[in-house]
Amino acid sequence: MDLRLLAALGALLCVCCSIEEGSAYTFRTFMGAEIAATAISSSAVVQRPCECRALCRDACLAVAIRRLLPGHFHCSFTEQKIAFTNSLVIPAPDSRVFYKRQGCLVNFTLVENVGFIYVSTVALNFTAASASCPCNSQLFTADSLVDFDAMREYLLKNANSSSTDLWIGLTRTSNITTWKWFGNGSIQAVHPSPYWGKNDPDNDSDCARILLKPSAGYFYHVADSKCSNPFKFLCKQM
Ligand SMILES: *[C@@H]1O[C@H](CO)[C@@H](O)[C@H](O)[C@H]1NC(C)=O
Ligand SMILES: *[C@@H]1O[C@H](CO)[C@@H](O)[C@H](O)[C@H]1NC(C)=O
Ligand SMILES: *[C@@H]1O[C@H](CO)[C@@H](O)[C@H](O)[C@H]1NC(C)=O
Ligand SMILES: *[C@@H]1O[C@H](CO)[C@@H](O)[C@H](O)[C@H]1NC(C)=O
Ligand SMILES: *[C@@H]1O[C@H](CO)[C@@H](O)[C@H](O)[C@H]1NC(C)=O
Ligand SMILES: *[C@@H]1O[C@H](CO)[C@@H](O)[C@H](O)[C@H]1NC(C)=O
Repeated sequence: MDLRLLAALGALLCVCCSIEEGSAYTFRTFMGAEIAATAISSSAVVQRPCECRALCRDACLAVAIRRLLPGHFHCSFTEQKIAFTNSLVIPAPDSRVFYKRQGCLVNFTLVENVGFIYVSTVALNFTAASASCPCNSQLFTADSLVDFDAMREYLLKNANSSSTDLWIGLTRTSNITTWKWFGNGSIQAVHPSPYWGKNDPDNDSDCARILLKPSAGYFYHVADSKCSNPFKFLCKQM
């Protein structure tokens, strides 16, 4: 591709798609490093570092970014697997390397209004599930009812009989009426509630799952459950 076209594409991806957040990849940073000349597959000059990362597409595994004056950045792309321990990365004080964590988000799905979501294939108790969300994700939390409903809607569309109970990041506090999301926020145990199923919480357990049980009116609504029960679990990229 023509170099100027490439730079224009980088700028576009960078602006339009806020690629830094929406990208299917996350990057690990090596400060003070660059890619050895023999490993460089192509290069480009752009105006912002994020354009370099946006241009690291398809076969590109890593990009080194070096500031050029004034207000320009040089990107070197490689399609080879690099690591600090191999000779493809060399020290360079004015440069940094962004290494694509490939495959990390392979099994995550982007759900509108929610983010990247992962449904486990194994069933674990709540404690083990909390510790098993892959790739920097954590058990699902809803920042608002909009998020919660978007999540339910997605699961309903993609529901199958093997995932009717999913642990989420919600636990009971010492105040029996208050349930706290991992991180921030809480919901009250009240009825009617857009969160809780009609028979929940029944106040004998501390952990929360979402439950699909149409016969009881549960369409991935929240239900409490004994933390020792093994369920599959729903994770969200942070
Ligand atoms: C993605 O899911 C498939 C099927 O469950 C599994 O074989 C594979 O190891 C998973 N990949 C990652 C990166 O977790
Ligand atoms: C059902 O969901 C599980 C994940 O919970 C998935 O691995 C499986 O492929 C799904 N089955 C169908 C038929 O979609
Ligand atoms: C529990 O929390 C609710 C809602 O914040 C509050 O109205 C109630 O007084 C609290 N109960 C106790 C025992 O602290
Ligand atoms: C979480 O709560 C703390 C304390 O209430 C607050 O300072 C912080 O801004 C909150 N963070 C988010 C992401 O809402
Ligand atoms: C659980 O506790 C809440 C708050 O005390 C109460 O409103 C609700 O009726 C209780 N649920 C059951 C099933 O006992
Ligand atoms: C949860 O599962 C883990 C791993 O299987 C086990 O070590 C732990 O004792 C279990 N905890 C509870 C509370 O059941």
